Amino acid sequence: MKDFAGKVAFITGGASGAGFGQAKVFSEAGCRVVIADVRQDHLDQAVAYFKERKAQVHAIRLDITDRKAYAAAADEVERVFGSPPQLLFNTAGVNTFGPTEASTFEDYDWVIGVDLGGVINGMVTFVPRMIKAGKGGYIATVSSWGGFMGQPGCAPYSAAKAAVNNLMESYYTALKPYGIGVSVLCPTGIKSNIGESTFTRPKHLENTGYHVTDQTIEFMRKHYSFGIDPVDLAKILKKGIEDEILYVIPLPDPEKALRDNFERVINYTTPQGTKRQDELEKKRREERKKNPAPNIQGADEARWGRARPDITWVKER
Ligand code: NAI
Repeated sequence: MKDFAGKVAFITGGASGAGFGQAKVFSEAGCRVVIADVRQDHLDQAVAYFKERKAQVHAIRLDITDRKAYAAAADEVERVFGSPPQLLFNTAGVNTFGPTEASTFEDYDWVIGVDLGGVINGMVTFVPRMIKAGKGGYIATVSSWGGFMGQPGCAPYSAAKAAVNNLMESYYTALKPYGIGVSVLCPTGIKSNIGESTFTRPKHLENTGYHVTDQTIEFMRKHYSFGIDPVDLAKILKKGIEDEILYVIPLPDPEKALRDNFERVINYTTPQGTKRQDELEKKRREERKKNPAPNIQGADEARWGRARPDITWVKER
């Protein structure tokens, strides 16, 4: 897709971070933008930003895990703009950190519910509407580089993102005959508010196995401030959409990064390779401890990524 003028773009998580960057870039490219977000304060700030610039932006408060509310939001888009969106951005997501072995059912249900379930809800709600409208379109989903590997410090997140990558590949092929393109964006760090995810965690899923306090949130705010600027990221995604690339990987050499990553998978298929890879991972962990990158300095003091204090049986790594 190369022409964005007049198209309706529906962006989940569109009021903050990566989604807000997309709203800015695609509204500038001529789209009529819907920002859907669960945080009213984020929506208010984003609406004020676009109002000042007289951009055509419509805000909807939506929890993407609520299927009924999602259908109502889709109806609202058709009422306001006269058609379903031609562009769907599944961008909203949450994250939380802690040892895999301390994860509770609620840690899984919350993170997988938003990061995978929310994407599924977006696809099931909008894909039939987009196909029936007969105008083609484009779907871009924000996954993560973390979806290409298991990560012991955020297992629910990695599992959700791995599934999202896989799902988007299925839709990429399935939607081609309808003229609907699909991309999945797999960034590393983004300058965003994702460190505050816990503010949107539902009450019935609050039982966590992880250490999450004001101090860890403050640490994460700093951690994510080192990430890529959301507008720069949205421009990379726009180029990926124009080129109709399935995997949009905002790294200097995505091909090499992926080859190195799959080398790890291949290593884990043999006893010798496993030994080699385990040693490599151990060395990397030690190196990280000795020379922590600026974005993880202060992690230990904040007890970021540790188990809840009353879980005493988890080994410190
Ligand atoms: P962000 O927190 O700044 O923006 C996400 C927005 O999604 C927030 O406004 C939040 O209120 C909204 N949201 C959360 N749960 C929701 C729900 N149930 N329904 C509707 N809206 C909801 O975070 P960021 O970083 O911009 O996140 C966007 C996407 O980027 C996520 O999918 C995230 O996993 C992904 N990502 C982020 C990275 C980072 O370093 N920040 C790295 C790689 C991927």
